[in-house]
Amino acid sequence: MCGIIGYIGHQEAQNILLDGLHRLEYRGYDSAGIVVMHEGELALRKKAGRVPELSQLVAERPVTGTLGIGHTRWATHGEVNDANSHPHFGGEGEVCLVHNGVIENYTSLRDALQEKGYEFKTETDSEAVAHLLAYEYREQLGKNGSVADATSCLNALQATLKQLKGTYGLVVLFRDVPNTMFVARVGSPLVIGIGNKEHFVASDAGPLLGHTDEVVYLSDNELAVITADDLKIVHRDTGAIDPKVQIIEQSDGNADLGDYEHYMLKEIYEQPRAVENALRGRFNDDEATAVFGGLNMTAQQLRRIDRIVLTACGTSWHAGLVGEYLLEEFARVPTEVEYASELRYRNPPMSENTMIFAITQSGETADTLAAMRECKRKGHPTLAICNVVGSTIAREADGGIYLHAGPEIGVASTKAFTSQVTVLTLLALFFGRMRHLSYPAGKRIIRGLQSIPELMEQTLKCHEMVKYVAEKYSEKNNFLYLGRLYNFPVALEGALKLKEISYIHAEGYPAAEMKHGPLALVDKNTPSVFVVPKCGIYPKVISNLEEVKARKGPVIAIACHGDEKIAELADDVIYVPDVEEYLQPLITSIPLQLLSYHIALLRNCNVDRPRNLAKSVTVE
Ligand code: M6R
Repeated sequence: MCGIIGYIGHQEAQNILLDGLHRLEYRGYDSAGIVVMHEGELALRKKAGRVPELSQLVAERPVTGTLGIGHTRWATHGEVNDANSHPHFGGEGEVCLVHNGVIENYTSLRDALQEKGYEFKTETDSEAVAHLLAYEYREQLGKNGSVADATSCLNALQATLKQLKGTYGLVVLFRDVPNTMFVARVGSPLVIGIGNKEHFVASDAGPLLGHTDEVVYLSDNELAVITADDLKIVHRDTGAIDPKVQIIEQSDGNADLGDYEHYMLKEIYEQPRAVENALRGRFNDDEATAVFGGLNMTAQQLRRIDRIVLTACGTSWHAGLVGEYLLEEFARVPTEVEYASELRYRNPPMSENTMIFAITQSGETADTLAAMRECKRKGHPTLAICNVVGSTIAREADGGIYLHAGPEIGVASTKAFTSQVTVLTLLALFFGRMRHLSYPAGKRIIRGLQSIPELMEQTLKCHEMVKYVAEKYSEKNNFLYLGRLYNFPVALEGALKLKEISYIHAEGYPAAEMKHGPLALVDKNTPSVFVVPKCGIYPKVISNLEEVKARKGPVIAIACHGDEKIAELADDVIYVPDVEEYLQPLITSIPLQLLSYHIALLRNCNVDRPRNLAKSVTVE
């Protein structure tokens, strides 16, 4: 949520900043802006709208200079307009900053600063930080005989941070100290790239690729003082610390669109490869189990686990619900999936041997991070199932499993969902084989998982039929998504996909729950999408479907090839390959992703950047 970029070195900052913002735009796209230090002045260009619009503005009014900061905004405080766009200035322009996060006490700070005569020009919480910093800076200059140097700036920053409540990733420039950039973090990610006589700062490593592979991830309560040649890191409480330099992979997937029109479509089509990557090297055929390199627990410790709590948000929560069913079915370990936003403030009883998995594509979701930290604080082994390497959750977890799905850029999560479900299936196999699951059953699961990439390829052939269905129903304003057992989470996920990218109201329900209320919604204008592949309770789901038909509700069925009966009952059928029940979410979710994609296109919605949303939700 909000993308931050900074550059100091020997190259023109403007293009590096714009390119970085372009790569960070998935974090927020309400407005964008840059400031470049130019002949002792801070030259500002900012604008409501997307990064290409800012690029246009900069092309018309270029800024030269080799030090600058930039920001792409997801609005939290204050509407989307030019003034509320970052960067923000403090005092009389002597301080300038970009901020990601939420300052919870900004109103009291603003009131106090206004009393001191500071004039606020925006509705943002961030401007309070800028003015407070200017105030503290002036205090430092007063103490220091008006010498504007990096020490005064650092002292001012430290004094400011002590007064902030909330979360922040901050990059700050001081007009009178023209060759230094200041950085601080609590709760919002920041990574520093080390180049040759140059440094970069960004919200994630994406913008650094192609510039450098040496990075330092800033941790909470750390500050950095950065010049072209030097990087100093200071911990708020313990003072200077040695930067821990890590090497990032330069070719971690392909973030280009290639021949696809949208990232979402590209990522839907990447699913067979993503699942292959999630499975690679993770089978032990001889022992009919799964292998994980990063759990960091002994077999004895793992054997003692008597409860698993999965915690996540949004699509990752839906994957977690599939995980709950799988872990209870195969490993017989009581499992629960908790919304991270609830778990962080709840206090559910957890036995000593409860193990936590935070499931997250980005590894930066604020609620998931907070829930994970809360469980860690209580002493539970806390692991991550995560896609983004080096993300905060991946780094703070006691261990974990990477998805290896490659970058997911579309705001609507697709390949991360199926990769998460794949990893959770492996996990259920792993825990199962430590407990009750037989060797032949383990072998069967392995064979089933190995068949998935090819079956996904076959599933993608339903694309033309999905297009036809999308055209038929794209003008409807309410949809129901229904499934049972492993396909109930799929129904929830299908409804979320439709809501988020086409702005159509959609509800996911267990099909049998319809008669307890939602059936009242059914009429000829409310299509129901039934996920009804072959399964042990197929006849029961068919009865639920008939209940909808009896009330004149149009029915779109996702069913298995060869199911002729369904064609007589449903208005439209999208056929997919038949797989064992526990593998069905990996297949049945694909037509639902494609359906939401096409309906959104037909309604002229921005598929990759839906309104009001951002890819990585780093605020509470
Ligand atoms: O990065 P995370 O997996 O932690 O993100 C969690 C949700 O914000 C995310 O899945 C969201 O629901 C997606 N936009 C849904 O497509």
